[in-house]
Amino acid sequence: MCGIIGCFGRGDETLDTLVHGLAKLEYRGYDSAGVALLGDEITVCKTAGEIADLRDALRSKSLSGHLGIGHTRWSTHGPPTDANAHPHLSERGSVAVVHNGIIENYQTLRDELTAAGRTFTSDTDTEVVPHLTEQGLDEGMEPEAAFRAAIERLEGSYAIAALIEGVNAIFAARNDSPLVVGIGSDGSTDDTTTGDGDQVFFLASDVPAFREFTADVVYLEDGEFARIDGTLAVTDRDGTPVSKSIHTVEWDAEETGKSGYDHFMLKEIHEQPRALRQCLRGRVNELTASVDVPDVDDISFVHPGGGRGKFSGVQFVACGTSYHAAMYATQLFHEAGVPAQAFLASEYATSPPPVGDNLVVGVSQSGETADTLSALREASSRGGQTLALTNTVGSTMNRECDHTLLIRSGPEIGVAATKTFAGQLATLNLLSLATAERPASRRSLVPALRELPGQVQQVLDESNAEAVAEHYADARSYFFIGRGYQYPVALEGALKLKEISYEHAEGFAAGELKHGPLALVDEETPVFALVVGDGEPARKTVGNIKEVEARDGPVVAVTDGRSDAGRYADHVLSIPESHPRTAAILGNVQLQLVAYHVANRLGRSIDRPRNLAKSVTVE
Ligand code: F6R
Repeated sequence: MCGIIGCFGRGDETLDTLVHGLAKLEYRGYDSAGVALLGDEITVCKTAGEIADLRDALRSKSLSGHLGIGHTRWSTHGPPTDANAHPHLSERGSVAVVHNGIIENYQTLRDELTAAGRTFTSDTDTEVVPHLTEQGLDEGMEPEAAFRAAIERLEGSYAIAALIEGVNAIFAARNDSPLVVGIGSDGSTDDTTTGDGDQVFFLASDVPAFREFTADVVYLEDGEFARIDGTLAVTDRDGTPVSKSIHTVEWDAEETGKSGYDHFMLKEIHEQPRALRQCLRGRVNELTASVDVPDVDDISFVHPGGGRGKFSGVQFVACGTSYHAAMYATQLFHEAGVPAQAFLASEYATSPPPVGDNLVVGVSQSGETADTLSALREASSRGGQTLALTNTVGSTMNRECDHTLLIRSGPEIGVAATKTFAGQLATLNLLSLATAERPASRRSLVPALRELPGQVQQVLDESNAEAVAEHYADARSYFFIGRGYQYPVALEGALKLKEISYEHAEGFAAGELKHGPLALVDEETPVFALVVGDGEPARKTVGNIKEVEARDGPVVAVTDGRSDAGRYADHVLSIPESHPRTAAILGNVQLQLVAYHVANRLGRSIDRPRNLAKSVTVE
């Protein structure tokens, strides 16, 4: 989705800092980019295409100024063209604006401004903002008042940054779209304090845009305005100053580079052992088989066999990969005797079920997904208690929900969710263990969780997924099947493959294959079967493998070798023996690698697949 960067205080480095910041935001997905600098006047350069195209365009354009704003656009109103790229200028060019989100009443405002004689040069909803601001200036308002008055007219979601000619400042406002201010010292260090001295300010939709310059950040809230003019002043809608805390982000700039990997996705797949260690650190104690998660200390569930608790059940709301994590989570709670349901967030928001005294958990790596936010707000408005299970401190979900449980995976740059899915599954286990489960299940699961990072490393070290991917890279279609905890992983395996390889892939509950999809299986349809343990679910899934074989479908078994799945499979992707819950994470690593290598062989844009964005902030 769109990205915003602003920079104040880097002198001649301003333009480079803006373009560099935009490159750091590429992972959000975009189709055009642009920058504006404020010197004696506002100068703009913007273009459809990639950051490389913007750099080319800048070679033939002279921009000057010591403060500026930049943007990567992901089209919502009008196609990706130079004219539709941000920043957008007002009639006389005295105001420049970049914007993330959607202005719902833009057509009314546009009609009104057009009738007043203002000429629009783009199809965007954003362009109403510079025109409205300039209209205020023309009516004699002070610049800041004109900006605030323009924002007050907007309905919808926005993170906005603006430059106004004649004022040495960046103005910003947010509603339903993230915006964060970074505060550093002059120079390029991040070991600065935020005290006296020449300060440098950054404004961005996401911290990686400026992380190499500073770790000190201030998160803006909905309804807040910021003015950056050598100091940071934050005010509410009425203009009352708001006192803000400075947070320190805990990950370093290194973690947002590729560290020698060809793609962020591959790097992030390989970061899973570390991400899982971070997730579990201090939260599980193997000696005492106990779980210590203070964030959820006041959450407990009513148990059928007695035991008083605050909540009778749990409703999960999520989208895409996070929805698969939510499906997995329902099984954890069912095993603990707690009713649980997983909802696609968009459907929950469309047709909300009774909340009752359920805890409503939003599962979201970004914490900004509009559909999930909408579902959580719906639940809240009906009196439900909400919990955000997210990777992003300071995200809207983190701030709006009653409780937050962090998955601690570190920044994820590749559009395809990988390490954050592993982190979600591990953290959901912690949630169920800490709030719902009995000591017996803790005794078997805690050691399995502790072993998990090492086992993931083993899978990464020994995987033959690249050879398997090579073998099947020309398949017509890919199927994935699994039962129980392996079923959401089958869905996830298919989603990962389709989103980055653009090939057709479907996941099914193993038992469902014979109820329809089997009709599509032939020698060009490899079926990846997740088979764990040697119990009833494994035996039944082996039966499904045989059904595939009988239709000449090639089979790849993802298995711990305890069943005879391998005997009937054409290829095997091995995982170490473990608990069925952690086996799901191990099997998923193999499927992530298959997806990656198929996509790589087909030459796809792995980190930024077409039509997709990292953070989906529109419904
Ligand atoms: C797939 C993927 C998406 C996200 C979905 C929800 O790889 O990343 O399906 O899982 O858009 O995003 P979050 O988790 O940020 O709410």
